[in-house]
Amino acid sequence: MITTGIIGGSGYTAGELLRILIHHPEAKIDFVFSTTNAGKPIASVHTDLIGECDLTFAAEISPNVDVVFLCLGHGNSTKFLDEHQFSKHTKIIDLSQDFRLNTHANHKGKQFVYGLPETQKAAITTGNYIANPGCFASGIQFALLPLAKAQLLHEAVHINAITGSTGAGVGLKPSSHFSWRNNNVSIYKAFTHQHLGEIKQNLTHFQPDWQEPMHFIPVRGNFPRGIFTTAYTACSLAENELYELYNTFYKDCPFVHVSESPIHLKQIVNTNKCVLHLEKHNDLVLISSAIDNLLKGASGQAVQNMNLMFGLPETCGLTLKANAF
Ligand SMILES: NC(=O)c1ccc[n+]([C@@H]2O[C@H](COP(=O)([O-])OP(=O)(O)OC[C@H]3O[C@@H](n4cnc5c(N)ncnc54)[C@H](OP(=O)(O)O)[C@@H]3O)[C@@H](O)[C@H]2O)c1
Repeated sequence: MITTGIIGGSGYTAGELLRILIHHPEAKIDFVFSTTNAGKPIASVHTDLIGECDLTFAAEISPNVDVVFLCLGHGNSTKFLDEHQFSKHTKIIDLSQDFRLNTHANHKGKQFVYGLPETQKAAITTGNYIANPGCFASGIQFALLPLAKAQLLHEAVHINAITGSTGAGVGLKPSSHFSWRNNNVSIYKAFTHQHLGEIKQNLTHFQPDWQEPMHFIPVRGNFPRGIFTTAYTACSLAENELYELYNTFYKDCPFVHVSESPIHLKQIVNTNKCVLHLEKHNDLVLISSAIDNLLKGASGQAVQNMNLMFGLPETCGLTLKANAF
């Protein structure tokens, strides 16, 4: 069994990791570190785990685990690794933004690999340190990577993506308070969202000469989980050629599904799937993508990366049931 540790145990992505790892046939949870709830039963915070988890939050780490997941806010992963030492064999999967950019991918000799299994499988399989992609960044890249790989990005890309409230983490803010968020929609960080850097880095890895802008408007939705993205740009391919391109690109990707019918969030919420849909309107291609921000956008993707790092089938422990209704 793979022994695992979780840091930032009270948060949303940590809770989602617990839900997956408890049922993972090849992994065992060794410790769940918490700065605010040490000594308390895990099920007293992640209350849906009643009857499934009798662990308590730990005040100390176990430095010899096989893999540790850092479920911390941006900047705190770097700080945590500066202050805590794991054994040489311990693999690290970081869910924050700290090591995603090539310019920040090395931390004191630890070289982080960008953990998007659909494009980085070989490097993840041999890597020891993974920078798990952002949630918006995942949904948007699934929509655009096949075009970049085929050198088909020529003009600006316009992106609109609406996210559930769990994307903002467990801490209460004015914009995540029920009274404000319920029955409400708003935009934030228009054109400046922090995920643009990692998206651009990876698209231009495939198509280095594409230097046009990405116009990204993130939207706060009034639902708890899921990200629905629409992206459009100029494209000369016909619709049937686009479907062929996307189906070929994702043919070995068990979680990405290209749908000829329009897609919706209920297909993917509570699963590790991404669904994509393509439409051609005159000279524009419109790509829709949907993922669960906490699963394919975070903890599911992290477990998919763990599976690859330990030589397991990618889908191990990740065949989940959609909520559907
Ligand atoms: N939420 C998503 O949909 C999503 C998707 C993709 C990526 N991410 C990224 O994943 C990371 C975790 O996100 P999250 O949504 O789980 O956040 P979260 O709900 O805010 O949880 C973060 C946890 O980190 C711990 N923590 C807080 N401040 C700390 C500090 N100064 N030093 C050490 N630990 C601290 C706390 O746990 P304890 O009190 O138990 O220590 C807190 O609950 C973030 O970097 C986020 O951007 C999130």
